[in-house]
Amino acid sequence: MKIRVLLFFCIGFIGMNASGVELKLIPQPNSMQISEENVVLANEILIDFNTNTESRYLEESLRKTVLKHLDGEKSGSRSDNELQKIVCSIDKRLPKEEAYKIEIDEKAIRLTGASGRGLFYAIQTLDQIFTSYLDLRINRRINKLSIVDAPRFEYRALMLDPARHMLPVEDIKRYVDAMAYYKFNTLHLHLTDDHGWRLEMKKYPRLTELGARRDATFNDEILKGGFYTAEDLKGLVAYAAQRNVKVIPEVDIPGHGHALLTAYPEFACFPDTTLKAEINEAYPHAAPICIGNHKFYAFYEDVIRELSEIFTADEIHIGGDEVNEDAWSKCPKCQNLKNEKGLAKDDQLMDYLFERVTKIASEYGKNVQFWHEAGHKYPAGETIFLWRLGTAHSVIEDARKQKLKLICAPGEYAYFDYPESQSDKDYLPAWIPILPLKKVYEFDPAYGLPKEESESIRGIEATIWGESVKNIHRAFYMTFPRAFALADAGWTDMENREWKHFVVRMQHHLNVLLERGVNYRPPVELYKSKN
Ligand code: ACM
Ligand code: ZN
Repeated sequence: MKIRVLLFFCIGFIGMNASGVELKLIPQPNSMQISEENVVLANEILIDFNTNTESRYLEESLRKTVLKHLDGEKSGSRSDNELQKIVCSIDKRLPKEEAYKIEIDEKAIRLTGASGRGLFYAIQTLDQIFTSYLDLRINRRINKLSIVDAPRFEYRALMLDPARHMLPVEDIKRYVDAMAYYKFNTLHLHLTDDHGWRLEMKKYPRLTELGARRDATFNDEILKGGFYTAEDLKGLVAYAAQRNVKVIPEVDIPGHGHALLTAYPEFACFPDTTLKAEINEAYPHAAPICIGNHKFYAFYEDVIRELSEIFTADEIHIGGDEVNEDAWSKCPKCQNLKNEKGLAKDDQLMDYLFERVTKIASEYGKNVQFWHEAGHKYPAGETIFLWRLGTAHSVIEDARKQKLKLICAPGEYAYFDYPESQSDKDYLPAWIPILPLKKVYEFDPAYGLPKEESESIRGIEATIWGESVKNIHRAFYMTFPRAFALADAGWTDMENREWKHFVVRMQHHLNVLLERGVNYRPPVELYKSKN
């Protein structure tokens, strides 16, 4: 324990203040040396874009960064040893695809990426370096430094839930902007649920005629609805790709399908034509789709085909959470299938569904993801999500045994629809726990396990479930500043993370959010307590 405290002290010192200089970067880079010596930036800085990797957008975004921070006349006279140049290049020898280096000396600012993705992150970090100097426009001085950085985890995601409350694409693009600045590289879109189906499919018009509108929300009793066309979503995918964010769509089956079954009741074991897509606390009681109905697989193949044409990511999320399996035991079609396949238990019907759907997805070049539920068999090599409270160790073990990959989105640390404090809890259902910022900062996605026991872990995701998130402002409010803490958890090695240092960086970045017009929840508890 003594050693650990000492270690944190030293690292805090290195990361925060090696030379009396504080740079406020989120996520914290994994290796950084700052010199006490300054360089003076010239009024006109030449950008030497020595690479052709998706260079147009990157060059543009670097130009914007430079203009934003350095536009305006420097006071004092020009001197000969001003830094005049930013040089960008690619070096494939860097260790991971998103790795990058920044070197600042008297001759130049040199940004190097392992790929265009790494170079994009070098530019984001440079922008954050510039924001650390509050007087940069006036005195144009920055410290010489060297950063060599790469992420701890390859998968760093946030999830939005437009199924519960429709979010316009333009708003989601603003969310992507904020994600990218903090090096999140994946946006998970929960496109369907009991309350709404948001994916237009021309062949199935009722999905959006009936499934994309609902009667009421928890509190406002207002008819709400909306859906995305293929063009909307393609635009979002392209926008996000430029910012190193891939978009992973989820069409949740076999539960959470109230909206689907409103539109097409025939996909249920016992069709109910009186259903309505609505927020009614239906799950986990809503009927699932009928696993024994072969017509459903033709429908879901159409869904996968449509998703494949829109989304360029090589993965899609199939859902698989909170399924009420009761109907399957009474359904002749499900029971026939169970007997035909020699399944011992009704809930193995879900494993059959997973296997069949995974096979279809693979024909379209896609891997699949699932919300993990205990006792189920998932196709080897695919990805499961840890999400239920109190299940981390058993799910990590299950992933290892079943040869699955794992993304950690545990309720304890990463459910950002949970309120951040008691004062935000009053309007929410009683069972919902509180998830404070500090708790998120304590998250180690590998749970302290040695490498050989945590190898299946690809990364992290925070979920902003949408029952009470009615617009993007509320989504931002629930996201920040907790996503700052999660950004460090996904990117920064444990030995480079320290709460007190984080708080300093976080305070600064709340102002950055303000400048960018991004809403957040002021972490008022920190000002009251000794935290
Ligand atoms: C979930 O929270 N239903 C995955
Ligand atoms: Zn059935």
